[in-house]
Amino acid sequence: MGMEVAVRWISAALFIGLCSANSVEKKIYITLNATAPCVRLMNATHQIGCQSSLSGDTGVIHLVEQESNLSWVLSDGPNPPYMVLLESNMFTRDVMLSLKSSSRVSGVAAILPPSPAPGQLSPDLKCPNDGFGLYSLNYGPEYAHCNETLWNPEGNGLSYDDFPFPVFMLKDENETQVIRQCYKDHNHPREGAAPAFPLCAMQLSSHMHGVKDTVTCMRRSRGQVSITLNTDDVCDPLSDFNVWTTTQPINKSGVASPEDRFVVAAARLDSRSFFWEVAPGTDSAVSGFIVLLAAAEALARTPDVESLPKNIMFLLFQGETFDYIGSSRMVYDMTNGKFPIALENIDSFIELNQIGIGTSSEIWAHTDPVSLRNSTVNEQVQKLLASFSKVTAGMNISVRQPNQSQPLPPSSFQRFLRKRIIPGAVLTDHQASFANRYYQSVYDLGENIGLRYPDGLTPEEALNHITDTAKALADVASLVARTLYLQAGGNGSLENITANAQTVTRMLYGFVINWNNSWFHSIISQDKNDIFTKQKHISFYVSVNEQTFSTVLVEHVLFNLTGHHANLTEEQCRDPKSIPHPDTNFFNYIWVQGTKAENASEPTPYCVRANVWLSRALSPAFELADYSSTEYSTWTESRWQKVGARIFLVASRELEIITLVTGICVLITSMVLIHFLNAKSNILFSGPQEHSSVSY
Ligand SMILES: *[C@@H]1O[C@H](CO)[C@@H](O)[C@H](O)[C@H]1NC(C)=O
Ligand SMILES: *[C@@H]1O[C@H](CO)[C@@H](O)[C@H](O)[C@H]1NC(C)=O
Ligand SMILES: *[C@@H]1O[C@H](CO)[C@@H](O)[C@H](O)[C@H]1NC(C)=O
Ligand SMILES: *[C@@H]1O[C@H](CO)[C@@H](O)[C@H](O)[C@H]1NC(C)=O
Ligand SMILES: *[C@@H]1O[C@H](CO)[C@@H](O)[C@H](O)[C@H]1NC(C)=O
Ligand SMILES: *[C@@H]1O[C@H](CO)[C@@H](O)[C@H](O)[C@H]1NC(C)=O
Ligand SMILES: *[C@@H]1O[C@H](CO)[C@@H](O)[C@H](O)[C@H]1NC(C)=O
Ligand SMILES: *[C@@H]1O[C@H](CO)[C@@H](O)[C@H](O)[C@H]1NC(C)=O
Ligand SMILES: *[C@@H]1O[C@H](CO)[C@@H](O)[C@H](O)[C@H]1NC(C)=O
Ligand SMILES: *[C@@H]1O[C@H](CO)[C@@H](O)[C@H](O)[C@H]1NC(C)=O
Repeated sequence: MGMEVAVRWISAALFIGLCSANSVEKKIYITLNATAPCVRLMNATHQIGCQSSLSGDTGVIHLVEQESNLSWVLSDGPNPPYMVLLESNMFTRDVMLSLKSSSRVSGVAAILPPSPAPGQLSPDLKCPNDGFGLYSLNYGPEYAHCNETLWNPEGNGLSYDDFPFPVFMLKDENETQVIRQCYKDHNHPREGAAPAFPLCAMQLSSHMHGVKDTVTCMRRSRGQVSITLNTDDVCDPLSDFNVWTTTQPINKSGVASPEDRFVVAAARLDSRSFFWEVAPGTDSAVSGFIVLLAAAEALARTPDVESLPKNIMFLLFQGETFDYIGSSRMVYDMTNGKFPIALENIDSFIELNQIGIGTSSEIWAHTDPVSLRNSTVNEQVQKLLASFSKVTAGMNISVRQPNQSQPLPPSSFQRFLRKRIIPGAVLTDHQASFANRYYQSVYDLGENIGLRYPDGLTPEEALNHITDTAKALADVASLVARTLYLQAGGNGSLENITANAQTVTRMLYGFVINWNNSWFHSIISQDKNDIFTKQKHISFYVSVNEQTFSTVLVEHVLFNLTGHHANLTEEQCRDPKSIPHPDTNFFNYIWVQGTKAENASEPTPYCVRANVWLSRALSPAFELADYSSTEYSTWTESRWQKVGARIFLVASRELEIITLVTGICVLITSMVLIHFLNAKSNILFSGPQEHSSVSY
């Protein structure tokens, strides 16, 4: 017996030695830290985005700087599959589609530096949100599918393609430099000759659990939960929260009476790009909601606003990018009595859309030509337009109307008009097609709306430096606030209603340049403080389930701009139902961090009271479990386990095979060992024990 054991041990040791003798030198991986993946999204009928295989896709890096470099990847290079390192001027839909059609490509890493290359334009569709807006066969068919005006002519639709390989964005110049160097040292083909091994390779991992479409994936999600008790669903509906407030507080649990009239001012909160959570949206979202927030502040500080005949409601919608998630949900809630006001309570509607480009001169007020055919509605719209003219008389901006036969641009207002004809206008910076060339692109940055700061400012100085862009947007906010005041029946002096350029500049700095700033720190409630450590860059991507950081910030800014200090202790502030005369149906309370007093080491927190509320922005399609809906957004985001990118050197193919064999050897050895240990455990483990018991 003892002899047999010894023989097995020796043969196992020999086997290991044999295997390890062949093993190649340990691979050195360099993890890439500043990347953003493209992930898979699904709607009722399609999947879009990208994914890798389960364990990630690997390929030899090849740099593509110009058209002529493509042939190496697509046909000539001897070491496929290739991981294509794309310069930003080559990151176009045409190039991406040619890579997609080749079996020699294992993935793409796009180098996207802070300023756009000439070829970089909007990756969104030419006709955004088509099919979910107002115009259809039943309503203004001549305007459906952007027949009359192509809103986003620069759009190449890249964001809505489906790629079978991983695509990552490289954000950091220094990291990109590491990859370039590795490529230059090892892979660069000299005079067309194949480079010698070892070669620089890249591995991209972004395996997506969700497949095909939302119908399939939601069915699977539910199936998995019930059958295998695996709560690891495969996809989640895109959802977040809308933010709303009114100038005269209303009972948020009650129902407005039919006589209550509300003038609605709306804007969208979200944007997107080809890459996950890279969504600066400066013109497409930030410009509009900043103006709205500044107008809300101006009105909140106007004394007689509480006694106006009509109330003014501010609505900020999330998820509008994805077929109007937020606004369609709000309309659904308003129609089903799940929101304090109904559609019938809405007197008129003003929406702020992309409004950051060239705001110093002209604003365009878009209206719906179909509802204007009704003389009653036409009269009310003309009154609204006249208010704009009246307000701008003393200002250096003008509000102009585009051609009367032009339909509304993509806007939340369209979702309201789908259900009920309401007089209203959408204010934008474009007369016809978008002025924004970078609609839903990674390049919709501050530069895009002319936001510039003098050199050498400290973050604190920049936060408070009033830029020309801030002045222009503050003027637009004053215009909006005054128009809302007139619409609500106000007849006081308009001069006193002026948006604060200081507030606008702080918001621009916070939402566009750097959200980790002292103002945002001072207005955030203490339990939300971890947002400053969790995420480095602000993103306006709607995301799934939880409140995104952008929603949290907008909510708190609105608290700061429209709310008041409440003299409550921390306990009372966190549980305001406990105070003597609770008014929690009318007001919301947050305990904010506050600013540091002079010489103080810690900021002084305090309680803020405001009638700022959140409402769910989850598409009604998921409420109704109608996953193939064509009425409501059906966008879901796939789940994934691991997303990552790294580079390393690969030896020749033969060595790769040896590596594999080594792996198999180790596996077999360990299996043999385990089998052996199991079989002989009584000898191996009980023996010595007996022995030691003897010695005691
Ligand atoms: C889903 O998205 C794809 C890609 O953009 C589009 O072609 C299709 O029409 C969409 N399906 C629905 C039902 O909206
Ligand atoms: C890149 O490296 C340079 C020099 O090491 C450094 O000064 C710079 O801050 C780095 N940039 C980033 C974005 O890390
Ligand atoms: C990423 O971070 C890791 C750990 O901090 C570091 O070892 C690695 O060099 C970084 N990658 C690059 C490309 O700088
Ligand atoms: C607000 O509405 C709720 C629900 O309808 C009701 O119970 C409550 O009395 C209302 N509060 C006031 C002050 O009207
Ligand atoms: C015009 O709209 C008003 C209110 O929306 C409605 O009551 C009226 O019936 C409409 N008139 C016509 C001719 O459709
Ligand atoms: C308005 O649009 C219509 C239809 O596109 C066109 O015929 C008309 O000339 C345009 N009017 C102006 C003033 O541009
Ligand atoms: C935010 O700013 C503070 C100081 O201003 C700094 O200590 C912290 O590291 C910053 N957080 C992030 C995520 O950059
Ligand atoms: C809003 O923020 C500013 C700057 O931190 C602060 O001075 C002001 O008191 C805040 N207002 C409210 C109502 O919290
Ligand atoms: C705040 O409340 C405390 C206790 O209720 C009271 O003593 C104090 O005077 C109040 N402060 C103000 C500014 O109202
Ligand atoms: C802050 O500290 C400085 C220097 O110690 C002192 O002169 C000043 O009076 C202090 N201010 C307050 C408000 O305590």
